[in-house]
Amino acid sequence: MKAAGILALIISLSIIAESKVYTRCKLAKIFVKAGLDNYEGFTLGNWICMAYYESHYNTTAQKILEDGSVDYGIFQINSFTWCRNVRRQQKNHCHVACSALVTDDLTDAILCAKKIVKETQGMNYWQRWKKHCEGKDMSEWKRGCEVS
Ligand SMILES: *[C@@H]1O[C@H](CO)[C@@H](O)[C@H](O)[C@H]1NC(C)=O
Repeated sequence: MKAAGILALIISLSIIAESKVYTRCKLAKIFVKAGLDNYEGFTLGNWICMAYYESHYNTTAQKILEDGSVDYGIFQINSFTWCRNVRRQQKNHCHVACSALVTDDLTDAILCAKKIVKETQGMNYWQRWKKHCEGKDMSEWKRGCEVS
């Protein structure tokens, strides 16, 4: 059991070793394609602004919190409620391994973020979004990007 845990940790560490930081416009394109623009009423700019303040577009960003849970990836999604990491104490509402939220393929992270917005009724989950983005003009965030 313990050895398996350590092995899983080593595997997940080697997966996250490859760090990818997206540019703002590349991210905008991926977000539009994934249907985030106006998802639950939140415009594209809100998503880009949120990702900027949460992770600086770094797909491998990880932050260990005081309670021992970990925030993962571009949207800094927390392991306690939303994903499953090696500590296994979690609720895993997104039915996904936390390691899948720190790859440059954003599919799982976006699916999970959509679920968070649905289940928590909005983007309030992201405190940096609340602080820096909520209620402000978000059109600047997609400026210069080839998205409609
Ligand atoms: C992205 O985050 C990872 C994990 O925190 C870090 O090691 C890496 O240096 C970051 N990359 C950049 C370009 O900031």
